[in-house]
Amino acid sequence: FQPSRQHLNDVKFFARHLRGRRHNTHKGSYGSVAVLGGASGMAGAPILAARAALLTGAGRVYACFADQAPAYDSAYPELMCRQAAGFDFDAATVVAGPGLGAERRAHELLAQAIGSASPLVLDADALNLLAADPPLQAALAERASAAAAAGRTVLTPHPLEAARMLGISVSEVQADRPAAARTLAARTRAVVVLKGSGTVLAEPQGHVVINTTGNPSLATAGTGDVLAGLCGSLLAQGWPAWEAALAAVWLHGMAADVMVTEGMGPIGLTAGELIPAIRTALNRM
Ligand code: APR
Ligand code: MG
Repeated sequence: FQPSRQHLNDVKFFARHLRGRRHNTHKGSYGSVAVLGGASGMAGAPILAARAALLTGAGRVYACFADQAPAYDSAYPELMCRQAAGFDFDAATVVAGPGLGAERRAHELLAQAIGSASPLVLDADALNLLAADPPLQAALAERASAAAAAGRTVLTPHPLEAARMLGISVSEVQADRPAAARTLAARTRAVVVLKGSGTVLAEPQGHVVINTTGNPSLATAGTGDVLAGLCGSLLAQGWPAWEAALAAVWLHGMAADVMVTEGMGPIGLTAGELIPAIRTALNRM
């Protein structure tokens, strides 16, 4: 795979979806996001994803917890923290996986989210559960034929998650990242974001793009959760899956690049600090 200019992620690929806010709008105009995650001991992951959705313009954001839900997020009380059991995943764009765990309950909740007609981002444990479960894989492929959900699914694996889904080793994934992303996109009929230094994006028709922003300040826990929340936020605001993924990956990396110029990285940037920087990058576009 020889990347040409055409294959390098650029603002021109998604610029037409960057719109200011019309005056005569309200929170219902900007969509709802529900993050599904938060098994015991991993409550921070869905909180980071939910904060990213909140600060990038989603109208309403829910953080849904597989286990005990906290009363609220003290840093962002605007987030609505809910027990995942009983939540109606049809009413929001769903970001499933951050800290979801691999328990039976996680599996059931994920099956509900995949079966919903909602736009969907699958990350982290959602991908691990999917890799181990052919019926869930069939349900995911089904979404591509369902009118409401078609073209509204994004998968955000890191190399290990991609390797599990493909049934190959991490070194095989890394040896040809564009091929791995393309194969996964074709199999799942979804947009695939294969993360890491030089994130690769692929869509089911075989088109592949390599991202040009970002740096090793992102190599810290939680930055993947932030990316998933950002991608869900753009989907909730009506972006198609491919452009949402291109914009999310580009902005996430650009925010990290700005943080480095401001001395907040490459050492010691935190995923939480990245979120307001993404908001600034988005507002300046
Ligand atoms: N250069 C550019 N970007 C990078 C670099 C780098 N050197 N290193 C990491 N990144 C970016 C990736 O492209 C991705 O967007 O940072 C993000 C890291 O995402 P993840 O690998 O998913 O990491 P993390 O947020 O810690 O995941 C949280 O979910 O995937 C599980 O097991 C994982 O428990 C962990 C949790
Ligand atoms: Mg991750």
